[in-house]
Amino acid sequence: MSKKKATIVTYGCQMNVNETAKMKKLLEENGYEMTDDIHNSDAVFLNTCTVRSGAAGKIEGKLGNLKTIKNARGGNLIIGVTGCVAQEEKEELLKRAPYIDIIIGNQNIAQLPEIMEKILAGEIEHAVLTDKEDELPPRIDANFGDGITASVAINYGCNNFCTYCIVPYVRGRERSVPMEDIVNDVKKYIQKGYKDILLLGQNVNSYGNDFENNHEVNFAKLLDEICKIEGDYWLRYVSPHPKDLTMDVLEVAAKYPEKIARNLHLPVQSGSTNMLKAMNRKYTKEEYIALVDRVKAALPDISLTTDIIVGFPGETEEDFLETMDVIRHVKYENAYMFKYSIREGTPAATMEDQIPEDIKQSRLLRLIEAQNENAKEISLSYVGKTVKVLVEGVSHRNKERMTGRISENKVVIFEGDSSLKGTFVDVKIVTAKTWTLYGELV
Ligand code: SAH
Ligand code: SF4
Ligand code: F3S
Repeated sequence: MSKKKATIVTYGCQMNVNETAKMKKLLEENGYEMTDDIHNSDAVFLNTCTVRSGAAGKIEGKLGNLKTIKNARGGNLIIGVTGCVAQEEKEELLKRAPYIDIIIGNQNIAQLPEIMEKILAGEIEHAVLTDKEDELPPRIDANFGDGITASVAINYGCNNFCTYCIVPYVRGRERSVPMEDIVNDVKKYIQKGYKDILLLGQNVNSYGNDFENNHEVNFAKLLDEICKIEGDYWLRYVSPHPKDLTMDVLEVAAKYPEKIARNLHLPVQSGSTNMLKAMNRKYTKEEYIALVDRVKAALPDISLTTDIIVGFPGETEEDFLETMDVIRHVKYENAYMFKYSIREGTPAATMEDQIPEDIKQSRLLRLIEAQNENAKEISLSYVGKTVKVLVEGVSHRNKERMTGRISENKVVIFEGDSSLKGTFVDVKIVTAKTWTLYGELV
């Protein structure tokens, strides 16, 4: 008898990518072979995101496809929904889509195997598991496949309640993973050969704030402990909240230039102090810029990236121009730019002065254009330099070429052998486009 097959389709952020890797491991341990082909699967899971309406919309479409496949097979397909839509909608999702078999929230993925067994044995028809919202999920192993990146969640949840954001409602309150567990996980993945270690949290700098009797443990201390692990690897983290980024973190980054990647993702969201106040971000434009200046002084070679929302309720043209001013001042290497998207249940959803779609769209395009110019200028500044590249694998576009990243997180394409995957090589940059550098092996 051939092995049963399962697919997980992942939406959303790195936390979901991490949780998909955990589900993979659980499914494999329970006799499933993983595939990307939903038409050839006995079980399909959608690991969902609800941060913006676009993300939620994609999932609706996919669920429709799965329903059609399931009907054509006379019901012979397990459909599971995990992640933030599952956590947000709980039983409601089942009312809307009764053909779903399993709904598992963010804290409950460890229960996946036992639930599948019960469904297959016909003991239960559906399962909805979305409790334990504010607990630390049990530690489970993950399978990051043959890539070079392994991620480790260091804290879960968010206490910041930015007024536009659904995440605190679907990820619960902040709770940190014990430091020794994190250090052990990082050691394990480095021993397995992963070279790019990504620490995850909604607000990584609040790591340890919830440890009652241990005020010595914080994010800087955690970074320092991890960097004591020997080996050739790069350590990255997403995302720090600007209001909590302290100098001790920058000091540790300065202490380990070979280990801690030279990129800082510092989500600004808006350049207007009025908007930042309405967003509950707890910093002003001036404070953010002063922070960036401190970062650049402490780490002169750092690349900065960010997240920006345009068209937040009440955003005037002047507010928007403040955002344009910040991107000009900071010169981000990369920015994730979004139109404000109403999330029901958040304070901003019911604020007055919602911005019309056409204005949001035109502001987004203007912002993207300005940001692309910055990105191109920065990319061109690499031409002629020799950079250290962590090789990720064969380029999707051109099988003759390899793709990798530099410490600043820029993509580099160069001619080389697939055996270089997972190694650090020196590449001389010859040309550059907005997002990508092209070079030759040295
Ligand atoms: N915890 C992280 C990431 C949160 S979600 C942080 O605070 O940085 C990732 C990004 O999605 C946010 O930084 C924000 O820019 C964007 N986002 C969140 N809610 C949004 C909404 N309602 N509309 C548009 N963008 C949103
Ligand atoms: Fe959302 Fe703000 Fe928390 Fe980030 S810090 S997850 S944007 S509430
Ligand atoms: Fe989306 Fe949940 Fe991440 S809403 S962005 S998958 S925390």
